Amino acid sequence: MLLDGKKLLITGVLTRESIAYATAQAAQEQGAEIVLTSFGRAMSITEKIARRLPAPADVLELDANEPAHLEAVAEELGRRWGRLDGFLHAIAFAPADALGGNFLHTPWESVQASFRTSAYSLKAISAGLLPLMRDRGGGIVSLDFDASVAWPVYDWMGVAKAGLEAVTRYLARDLGRFGIRVNCVSAGPLRTVAAKGIPGFEAVSDGWAERAPLGWDVTDPTPVGRVAAFLLSDWARGITGEIVHVDGGYHAVGAPSPRTAE
Ligand SMILES: NC(=O)c1ccc[n+]([C@@H]2O[C@H](COP(=O)([O-])OP(=O)(O)OC[C@H]3O[C@@H](n4cnc5c(N)ncnc54)[C@H](O)[C@@H]3O)[C@@H](O)[C@H]2O)c1
Repeated sequence: MLLDGKKLLITGVLTRESIAYATAQAAQEQGAEIVLTSFGRAMSITEKIARRLPAPADVLELDANEPAHLEAVAEELGRRWGRLDGFLHAIAFAPADALGGNFLHTPWESVQASFRTSAYSLKAISAGLLPLMRDRGGGIVSLDFDASVAWPVYDWMGVAKAGLEAVTRYLARDLGRFGIRVNCVSAGPLRTVAAKGIPGFEAVSDGWAERAPLGWDVTDPTPVGRVAAFLLSDWARGITGEIVHVDGGYHAVGAPSPRTAE
């Protein structure tokens, strides 16, 4: 199996629709041992969902913006496993006034909050967990939404995703010497809690299935979770600083093609 014996940390499981849940499931199916993280009021929800995984997983508290949480997580993983083979960053947040078409009027405080939680936190967690990964190497994967273009309503989250892509490349540069790979999965739109929090998200997701050569199911995060699991595995040992699109091929075409009968 792809992840036999691997010890992985999976952030961002909130519901069964979460991309992180699909990743956790794929990772366990491929032989990994996992621990989840959650924070605040979401902790109890994540704990409930964690029991639905193929193997129930423990949940540690990690608010990505709380250095003390990160220290405690690193300490607990060190005690438990003595090392870490990789982690999934499935964390994003933007205040309401940073989304939904308010781009020209978003105050700096909201821009800063979006960037800190959604982009800077990848560096924060990578640096915090480095002592557990530096001896044996491993994989770090985060979740992106194609930041090479401007989207309707995505606003400062789109800018934060551009930051996340850049953070990925800089971490790949700095962590390669430890055998640590850092990659993003650029996912197509999925109907998760995070997506439902973006007013007018349908302006982005509607029509995706028609344009994507492979079609696209906004209710199925499995294809994204499986690629994230692959990138966490040694089979991806030649890949770093990469953005892998798992979007049904949407990014590769400029307009929907008329369906021709074959
Ligand atoms: N749903 C989509 O269409 C889509 C597309 C591409 C990329 N993504 C990205 O996938 C990732 C996971 O989102 P999802 O769509 O599965 O939604 P989700 O709502 O299931 O997960 C978002 C997670 O972020 C966590 N989070 C928010 N602030 C945090 C903080 N300060 N510290 C720690 N965790 C925090 C939440 O607890 C939640 O678990 C995000 O980075 C999102 O931007 C989503």
